[in-house]
Amino acid sequence: MKTYIVGNWKLNFTVGESSIYLHKLLKALPVYRGMEIIVAPSTIALQPLSLQVDRRKIKLATQNGFYRDYGAFTGETSFTQLRGIVDYAIIGHSERRYIFGEDEKFIQKKVAAAIRNKITPILCIGETESERAFGETADVIRDQLTSGLSQVGDDDLDKIIIAYEPVWAISSVKSAKLATPDEVTDVVKLIRGTLKELYGGKIAEGVPVLFGGSVGPSNAGSYLTVPGVNGLLVGGASLILGEFVDIIEVAKRVRA
Ligand code: PGA
Repeated sequence: MKTYIVGNWKLNFTVGESSIYLHKLLKALPVYRGMEIIVAPSTIALQPLSLQVDRRKIKLATQNGFYRDYGAFTGETSFTQLRGIVDYAIIGHSERRYIFGEDEKFIQKKVAAAIRNKITPILCIGETESERAFGETADVIRDQLTSGLSQVGDDDLDKIIIAYEPVWAISSVKSAKLATPDEVTDVVKLIRGTLKELYGGKIAEGVPVLFGGSVGPSNAGSYLTVPGVNGLLVGGASLILGEFVDIIEVAKRVRA
């Protein structure tokens, strides 16, 4: 399976800054076969960057998208409009869930809409600090996964990526803590087990599972060696070109 390194730029960089960053990143990277490098700029930058990007080196992801294709939905951008511009979509990120109130129904419709429009969803799931403290991690993970995939049939599971992001480990969260590789191992095992229950072993094994939460060059290797982890979703460190390139280099070494 390929190794996925995803940079989630969140609400950072103007269109011009995004273009300059992409230019430098393209220059810094050779074509790495066996690796899928993905960046997720702001929606407004996606179209111009899609004309600039070299898709053999880097693919684009949208950070958001609406589940209806067209209609009276002021301010929204649909996956139909994003089709052909991006290859991936981050869906269910904890910032969408908790700041913008996206619930499970909304998220599952987005997952289905992305697939319908030939865009691969990167479905983010993860427990909050208090859910972990109350021993609810396994239930939260199982529920978010089952619900997020409820409109995805067997034939479409090969078009899905799962990202495990414990909310308490995301660098922008106050008092963020680093997840230990053991903690990640347990949850990734649970994710793989749940996928197997839902879809059967053979199909489930092919689903890439990523880890995200304060990933940087110094800890990338420890997460990439967790059994069942196929890549990383990087926020803060992806905004610094040198750090993002270092993470990609670590991934290349560790997974070679
Ligand atoms: P972080 O963000 O790497 O800054 O913790 C990860 C994310 O929110 O996807």
